[in-house]
Amino acid sequence: MNMEITYKCLNKQIYTDAEFSLVPIRWEDRYKIMQWRNEQIFHLRQNKKLTVEEQDAYFENVISNLFEQEQPDQILFSMLQGETCIAYGGLVHIDWKDKNAEISFVMNTSLESEKFNTLWSVYLELIEKVAFSEIRLNKIFTYSYEVRPKLYPILYQAGFIEKERVLGVIKLNNKSIDGLIHMKRKGDLSYRPVEYSDVQLLFDWATDSSTRNNSINSKEITWGEHVKWFNKKMNDSKSTMFLFKKEKPVGVLRLDEVNSQFQISFSVDRKQRGKGIGNQMIRFIIKKFPENVFLAKVLESNRGSHRIFLKNKFIVDSVSKIGNKIITNYIKEEFDGNY
Ligand SMILES: CC(C)(COP(=O)(O)OP(=O)(O)OC[C@H]1O[C@@H](n2cnc3c(N)ncnc32)[C@H](O)[C@@H]1OP(=O)(O)O)[C@@H](O)C(=O)NCCC(=O)NCCS
Repeated sequence: MNMEITYKCLNKQIYTDAEFSLVPIRWEDRYKIMQWRNEQIFHLRQNKKLTVEEQDAYFENVISNLFEQEQPDQILFSMLQGETCIAYGGLVHIDWKDKNAEISFVMNTSLESEKFNTLWSVYLELIEKVAFSEIRLNKIFTYSYEVRPKLYPILYQAGFIEKERVLGVIKLNNKSIDGLIHMKRKGDLSYRPVEYSDVQLLFDWATDSSTRNNSINSKEITWGEHVKWFNKKMNDSKSTMFLFKKEKPVGVLRLDEVNSQFQISFSVDRKQRGKGIGNQMIRFIIKKFPENVFLAKVLESNRGSHRIFLKNKFIVDSVSKIGNKIITNYIKEEFDGNY
């Protein structure tokens, strides 16, 4: 069958991140997709195994029609690594009027044990470009049966929140399983570990004059010093850095472990300040590590930081002086689940 493989509803057809790409779903991938769906039937809304005839008919009668439509109800992609299809997914149940869609994703079953995290994370980055930048949706969501414990931390990291829990939607081995809806709105905050390629961005932020003035050591930083410091932090098992993003990177937060307590340092891109991002970053990190004890050192003049730590129930542990700088040392014990 000769399938036209560009979507009329998209200007950009291919979405790439390093060796991975999303391309309009390919006819040649249909049996692989069928196989993966049949292997993973336990988490899909599919009540029996697909046959070759059914899969051919689905591609011929349903999928082939999506490409020509101005507003199809689904936009599906093959996810490739190089030229090999390793997964497939897309936007489904697209509501063009209310500007939202569900996202679906199924990867090659044999990659689930080793590559689950990487492939889901890359896929989410790419499909969000389609959803938010290309067809300008406001909201995307996933619907999953609560049988996928590895999936939820990935969704939280990508900025999704649990929106709804539908009790007992299926029975599995005589156990009642809930359905979970996770949702992300355009512009919601997400985070990922800092990568080596972030070295320049972190230099730009660290050398911003207001960041320097609010640091305990406010001396200028050279590029050479920064690179040395950055590599040391990246290799330090007691240090973790997170990059926070909306559509673009907006801030960075570092945790340094000292005697089983975690010292927080953070900054927000100058252009993004005053929008609640600093506060959200601190909330995220407290929720991610609820059992940690957090510490923070704040200069007297740093009104925004004092406000953020006090709002998040840090308490003043002590006040100290370094040179002529007065520093408030904050501490937060275990998170009780409330703000
Ligand atoms: C400190 C910093 C991270 C705050 O981030 P932010 O995203 O601008 O802060 P938010 O928008 O979340 O503001 C949180 C609260 O602080 C208040 N605030 C923020 N900046 C303020 C300022 N300069 N003066 C007074 N209050 C301020 C906000 O009004 C808000 O209070 P509210 O919730 O009562 O309205 C950011 O200014 C920054 O990157 N500064 C340079 C680096 C730095 O100081 N890092 C912290 C070292 S401890």
